[in-house]
Amino acid sequence: MENLRINIGDASPFVPAATLENAEKESVRAIATLEEGTGEGSDFLGWETLPSLTDEGLISYIEATAARLRSLCDYIVVVGIGGSYLGAKAVIAALDDAFSTQKGKKPEVIFAGQNLSEDYLGELMELVSDSRFGIIVISKSGTTTEPAVAFRLLKDKLESAVGRKAAAERIVAVTDSRKGALRGMADKEGYKTFVIPDNVGGRFSVLTPVGLLPVAAAGYDIRRLIGGAADMEKRTLHASAENPSQIYAYMRNALYRTGKKIEILVNFSPKLHYFAEWWKQLYGESEGKDHKGIFPASVDFTTDLHSMGQWIQDGERTVFETVVEVKSPKKTLLIPDMDGDADGLGYIAGKHVEEVNRKAMEGTRMAHVDGGVPVIRVSVPELNEYHLGELIYFFEKSCGISGYLLGVNPFDQPGVEKYKTNMFKLLGKPGY
Ligand code: PA5
Repeated sequence: MENLRINIGDASPFVPAATLENAEKESVRAIATLEEGTGEGSDFLGWETLPSLTDEGLISYIEATAARLRSLCDYIVVVGIGGSYLGAKAVIAALDDAFSTQKGKKPEVIFAGQNLSEDYLGELMELVSDSRFGIIVISKSGTTTEPAVAFRLLKDKLESAVGRKAAAERIVAVTDSRKGALRGMADKEGYKTFVIPDNVGGRFSVLTPVGLLPVAAAGYDIRRLIGGAADMEKRTLHASAENPSQIYAYMRNALYRTGKKIEILVNFSPKLHYFAEWWKQLYGESEGKDHKGIFPASVDFTTDLHSMGQWIQDGERTVFETVVEVKSPKKTLLIPDMDGDADGLGYIAGKHVEEVNRKAMEGTRMAHVDGGVPVIRVSVPELNEYHLGELIYFFEKSCGISGYLLGVNPFDQPGVEKYKTNMFKLLGKPGY
């Protein structure tokens, strides 16, 4: 089977050989530091072995819980934010039919707790009002405001509809084993619970029940997801010229050291939109500290070529791109003939839509490289659970290596707390 590949041929010419060589040498040390657990943040390295160590009992329990929710609900509302939201959303969006809602897919997994919008939550309450719904509430700390507000509203709605006891059977909590308000509530109400391991930070938690339970609830194969990640765990364990995570980490740091301060993750399939959102949190929270760090941005092509294309082609030369390429689509669709060729598309009649997309991809890469934008390419044969598992672990491992290359602790997030303190003061929370 073909696996994830990385190609830095359109990025390395932008970097002086010595800079690249130094970054590569340092990446060997960074991998050893991760392996030995001797770097900053080493209390949070549990994600490294999640794929190989997740036990059969946990997987079966997740699958059984998901199957039960699926049998009881038309909507499964996943409540969470940041690391307790983006991984599951990324995987489900990548696997779902773009029109699954309109095609009436049931049960449908929907998300809440990722904002504080009264409109969003009000519209959600209307949607679930007369429906059979259940809740997966996810919070590592168990105290985050956004999911707590959404959960309070949904819990109230569910209990009013079916009573407290039946509601408790349709609520599953994923949280810390001991701490936090959510743990206390789950124990008191008798909800089924899953534990987020202490040594796995939020943005690295997609391969724990945080991501696995919603993905299974959406009807997808978590064993294949874990399988893809486990194969990538093996491939990226040690430093080598073939280690794709190491290559990505040293290449992007070498670019950063030559003034490329912004990395744009590019896709040519809207299914990867939320994957980029997950990636932005992973890299933004891991590296943006001590007044350092590559700014992670993203675009969906070809859509954004018609909005951001000008800037990328011709704007300030501080950007590089990492293109996530998916080799084969799931669907087959040929461009039909048209009488008289009224729209002038006769030259591509009979071609696959994806062939046109690929030519757009190649043309864009050539134009951007010519325009001074280095391009790293990461490719997978197709979008399925296995290759998503590979992509997830590939980017996580690279992130750990890259953070150490940058000289920061990639596993903490002190800056995330600042807005909360102000908000709590403004809201009059006791103790603030
Ligand atoms: O990475 C992080 O720590 C944050 O983005 C958290 O994932 C986010 O704030 C949600 O936290 P919690 O799971 O504790 O509700």
